[in-house]
Amino acid sequence: MDFTDAPIDTTAAANLAEQKLSLELLDIANDHDTAVGFEAVVNRGFYGERSDEKDVEFTLRTTAYRRTTGVWDATESDVEPVATIGTWETPLSVPGGGTVPTWAISAVTVAPTHRRRGIARNLIQSELRTAAACDVPVAALTASEATIYGRFGFAPAARVAKITVDTTRGKWAGPTARGRVRFIELDELHTSGRDIFERARLRNPGEIALDDALWSGTIDYQPGKADKAKDLRAVQYTDAAGTPQGIAAYRVKDGTDGKLTATIVHLAAATDDAYAGLWRYLLELDLVRFVEADLRSTDEPMLWQLSDVRAAKVAPYDHLWLRILDPVAALEARTYSRAGSIVLDLVDPLEFAQGRFLLEIDAAGTASVSRLEGDVPADAAHATLSERDLTLIYVGGTSALALHRAGRIAAHTDGAIEMLSAAFHSPVAPRLSIWF
Ligand SMILES: CC(C)(COP(=O)(O)OP(=O)(O)OC[C@H]1O[C@@H](n2cnc3c(N)ncnc32)[C@H](O)[C@@H]1OP(=O)(O)O)[C@@H](O)C(=O)NCCC(=O)NCCS
Repeated sequence: MDFTDAPIDTTAAANLAEQKLSLELLDIANDHDTAVGFEAVVNRGFYGERSDEKDVEFTLRTTAYRRTTGVWDATESDVEPVATIGTWETPLSVPGGGTVPTWAISAVTVAPTHRRRGIARNLIQSELRTAAACDVPVAALTASEATIYGRFGFAPAARVAKITVDTTRGKWAGPTARGRVRFIELDELHTSGRDIFERARLRNPGEIALDDALWSGTIDYQPGKADKAKDLRAVQYTDAAGTPQGIAAYRVKDGTDGKLTATIVHLAAATDDAYAGLWRYLLELDLVRFVEADLRSTDEPMLWQLSDVRAAKVAPYDHLWLRILDPVAALEARTYSRAGSIVLDLVDPLEFAQGRFLLEIDAAGTASVSRLEGDVPADAAHATLSERDLTLIYVGGTSALALHRAGRIAAHTDGAIEMLSAAFHSPVAPRLSIWF
C-alpha cells in the first residue's frame, strides 16, 4: 500500500472518540479552508508568526502530497484542528551508500488547550502502525525536546554538531581546491543547490531526500518564520572541469564584541575538492572573526584542515531520531564492516520489532536477515538489546561497546560485543543536515 492511500488508523480514532475528539485525514490540496486552518495551527504550535496567504499557498504547493492528519474537538465548532501531524515516505541514507524507505514525521502539534490528554500519543502510534502496514521499515523525526519520543521507541540515531571557528586562530591548512567559487542568486541556489544536496546525501548516512518544502525551509523560506532571504548570500563551487559540485549559503552579521560572524546556513559538497574549496572560502572571508555552522558532522573533516584545532568549538547534540519497525528490511538495507553471523534478541514494548533475528553477513558486508524461531547457531555472536539500542547503532551513531558498557546491551557469547561493534561501525559518521 502506498503511503498516500493509507486510511485513518481505526485504533487511534476509537481512542480519541472516547474524548469526543475526531481523527481525520485532511485533504489540504482540495479544501482551502482546511489548508488555512492546518497552517494556522502548525505555525501557532511552534510559536511562529501568524500564518498568511503566502504560507498557505506555500504549504499547498510543497506539502499537499504528504499525509496530513488533524484532530477535531467535536464539542467546538471551530474550523481549526486541535492537533496536527504530517507524514511522508522518504529514502534515508544508510551505511554503504544505500537507502531505506522511511516514514518521515513532521508538524506534530497539540494545541495548549488540549495538551496532556494523550492526543500526541495517539497520533504518533497511529502513524507507526500505518507505516508498518505500508511496509515502511523505519520511522524518523527531528524532535523539539529529547524527552518526548523515547516512549514510542525512537532513539537519537545520529548526532550533529554546532561548530564555531575563530578564524584569527585557525588558518586554512587543508588542500588547495582546483576549481572556483562564484556568487549565485537564490533561484540558482534553489535548483543547483538542491541537485548538489541530493548527490551529497548518499555520501552521508542519516540524510533524507529533500522535497520543495524542506529545501526552502533550509535556505530561505519557512511558513511562520520571518523572511530569511534578504540578507542571504550564496556561492557555488565548480570543479576544474566546470561542473558544479558544491554550494554554500551564509549570512554575515555583527557577532560578539563587534566582530563579524559568518553563519553558514547550509554547505553541501558532492566531492572532497568542493568541500575544501567552500570551507576555505568561508574561513578566509575578510573582516569575519567567527564562522559558525550548525547541523555539521560530529566527525567533520574541516576540523583537520585548520592550523590550530583549538580554533574550533564543537558542540554535539541529538538530531535524527529513528524508530525501527521492521528489523529484517531495515538491517538488510545497510552494509556492515565485518563478516560473520549475529543473532539479536530484540525487546520492543510496542512489539513492532520484538523477536529473535539472524544476520548473516558476507565478505562484501551484505547481510541476509531473517526471523529466527529456533536456537542460536553455534558460530553466531549473540546479544540481547532493546529496539531503541538497535536504533542507536543502526546507522553507526553509537558503538555497541559503549551501550554494553552503559549496561544496555547484554552479550551471551564471547566476543559478541566486539563483533557487533565492528560489524555496525560506519566509516562515515551519520549526520542529518536539515530539520524536518
Ligand atoms: C509535544 C506535544 C506534541 C505533546 O502533545 P500532548 O498531546 O500533550 O502529549 P500526550 O498527552 O499524548 O503525552 C504522551 C506522553 O508524552 C509526555 N509528554 C508530552 N509532551 C512532553 C514534553 N514536551 N516533554 C516530555 N514529555 C512529554 C506526556 O507526559 C505523556 O507521558 P506518559 O507516557 O508518561 O503518559 C505538544 O505539547 C506540543 O504540541 N508542543 C509544541 C510543539 C512541539 O514541540 N511539537 C513536537 C515537535 S517534535
